[in-house]
Amino acid sequence: MTNKNTATIYFRDEEKQFHLSNEKISYIFNVSTDGKLLQLYYGKALPEKDYSYLIEMHHRPMTTYRQEHDLLYSLEHLKQDFPEYGTTDFRHPAISLRQQNGSRITDFTYLKHKITDGKPKLNQLPATYVEDNSESKTLIITLKDDLTNVELELSYTIFSDLPIITRSTRVLNKGTQTQAIENIASLSLDLPDANYDWLQLSGAWGRERAIKERALQQGIQSIESTRGISSHQHNPFVALKRKNADEHQGEVIGTAFVYSGNFLIQAEVDTWDVTRLRVGINPFGFEWQLKSNESFTTPEAVLVYSDQGLNGMSQAFHKLFRKRLARGKWRDQERPVLINNWEATYFDFNEDKLVSIAETAHDVGIELFVLDDGWFGERNNDHAGLGDWSVNKQRLPHGIGSLAARIRKIGLKFGLWFEPEMINKDSQLYREHPDWLIHTPQRQDHHGRNQFVLNFSMPAVVDNIFNQMSAIIDESKLDYIKWDMNRPLTDVYDSHLDFSQQGEVFHRYVLGVYRLYDMLTTKYPNVLFESCSSGGGRFDPGLLYYAPQTWTSDDSDAIERLKIQYGTSMLYPISSMGAHVSIIPNHQTNRLTPLETRGNVAFFGSFGYELDLNQLTDKEINVVKSQVSFYKKYRSVLHNGTFYRLLSPFNNDEQTAWMVVSPDKKIAIVAHYKTLNQVNRSYQRLKLKGLNATFEYELDNSMYTGCELMNAGLIITDASSGQINEQNKRPETYDFDSRIWVLTAKEN
Ligand code: GLA
Repeated sequence: MTNKNTATIYFRDEEKQFHLSNEKISYIFNVSTDGKLLQLYYGKALPEKDYSYLIEMHHRPMTTYRQEHDLLYSLEHLKQDFPEYGTTDFRHPAISLRQQNGSRITDFTYLKHKITDGKPKLNQLPATYVEDNSESKTLIITLKDDLTNVELELSYTIFSDLPIITRSTRVLNKGTQTQAIENIASLSLDLPDANYDWLQLSGAWGRERAIKERALQQGIQSIESTRGISSHQHNPFVALKRKNADEHQGEVIGTAFVYSGNFLIQAEVDTWDVTRLRVGINPFGFEWQLKSNESFTTPEAVLVYSDQGLNGMSQAFHKLFRKRLARGKWRDQERPVLINNWEATYFDFNEDKLVSIAETAHDVGIELFVLDDGWFGERNNDHAGLGDWSVNKQRLPHGIGSLAARIRKIGLKFGLWFEPEMINKDSQLYREHPDWLIHTPQRQDHHGRNQFVLNFSMPAVVDNIFNQMSAIIDESKLDYIKWDMNRPLTDVYDSHLDFSQQGEVFHRYVLGVYRLYDMLTTKYPNVLFESCSSGGGRFDPGLLYYAPQTWTSDDSDAIERLKIQYGTSMLYPISSMGAHVSIIPNHQTNRLTPLETRGNVAFFGSFGYELDLNQLTDKEINVVKSQVSFYKKYRSVLHNGTFYRLLSPFNNDEQTAWMVVSPDKKIAIVAHYKTLNQVNRSYQRLKLKGLNATFEYELDNSMYTGCELMNAGLIITDASSGQINEQNKRPETYDFDSRIWVLTAKEN
């Protein structure tokens, strides 16, 4: 991040016009004569001047108007910045307050505003931040509803050197009566047309974040979570992409929600093709009782504008998430190469077996040993033990401290798996506190994987788990924690809250999760946290604030991972994607892929292994050794460089390619993966991106200019003719083949 503050927020007093701008983007809106916020422009940077002419008011039949005798001013016709329903607008609103008399009609109007350097923190919530006030400017606009005396503080931060605006909303009840917030958006933005394709990342367990696209149409299109976690099904991210935009050029607007619970992102296209984009907590199942003198802060929404296609959007997200969302020591530090025992042993391990894997791991250069599920309580299968975070004496009779010491003596760091939010009924914790699991009184509880969810909206529960985890972290001097979460929430109810507050439980749960993360990361700043939720079920920007990496998917098959990692890279930096080499036949797909390809895919993530190294042949061990040393040599480039997607596995062309370029453009690492061999195929060149056109890059003992590599490209033609004869041998490439090229520049 630079120190030059190019972010500016202009306020034109006469026109009551705000213009947030840096050298990349502009975001402009007016305050109307009756105090409403009217959206004028969002996109590529514009010079500062009066843009009031962009407000269009036309008479339209069968609509309603604000003032008697006037047939022009209708909120339904206007593009707005924080709309309400029922006072001439009929689209979905950014806020809905149910008042004591049952009415949901409000009329929030401009009261005041404040422009400051920097960016204020969000109460109890993860959010992007600045390290120096010169990195951004923030506008806070206060709107007021006179009848209820409720105020809204709309916060807009523009970053200096990123095409990014962040948004959040605070509701303050300055009246005497309690108000029920039924719906509160973090961001609402009306765009003047609907000429976009909607791109979402959706899927399921084992196939997270697949790219799905469709054209916007009149009506509502949305993605959401109702599961209490952000979910495998939909990631809290959407891109609106111009029809002619692709990976490298064209306009794209991306939005992401810094939250780990129920969310809703929707685009409502109205009858005049205005697109209303809405990002926030999911109103479904949500209601917050806001008592007199209380306030409610929404999570943060991030808005990215790119005129350089999807890669341009992704690179802005990556930079923000890597440097100004992730925090702490591990934000900038190289991540250790790890080995995790889950797919190697599952529950079938003892101390000696673990130690022997660790010894081989050390021999090949691995740096961190992670003991996964099964080390605690009576955890001999997945029916028991969750909630009891003390060592399983049957498996590890000498205790966890002793195992940690043995691992450390071998020369490895030591990490452990926890699932802090969960409880099995067969556990000491449940026997002591049967009322601590989330359930609805007098109704049946529903399990997932034989386990139940602890009520993290109760501070006593969070404190108990914190104390249990602290004791283990202290005893084993942990270097790393994998924080798992393996089922969605059902039967959501909290007997400690009033009947009217039951719509608060989902959000209070997420706040409890954040509180535990906050306490642990504060007390143990050196511990590297990796979040996980049956793989990537909670891979969201909210958790990146606490845990700089996430286990990307339980599907560790290299070919499946191409799609998963490609989709995930839409907004998440590759440093945040846990990626492990696993055994073949792969445990999820039964597929046989070459060890080299498994490594070549996992390099583009936080790299590690998840297999029993002692079952590999000597030849395979040598491959592993060279993979580990390759990764160590280039991990700084991989994690600090600029990532470009080149060929998409979603295009059904049997190939994927991506590359990373170091910040000084002197090193580029290019990867090309081929799914199936094809016969007699067309000639193909892969055009590289992001190089310095005038640098000369060395590759396979030849020199190429950046210019030719980016314009003519590397040859990636599959050489097989399909026939074997004297001149044509068997194909040299095979199914699931891959190649990595490292280009090193010599400056002219
Ligand atoms: C989840 C995780 C896996 C592993 C198991 C252990 O499925 O995603 O990586 O930790 O739990 O039970």
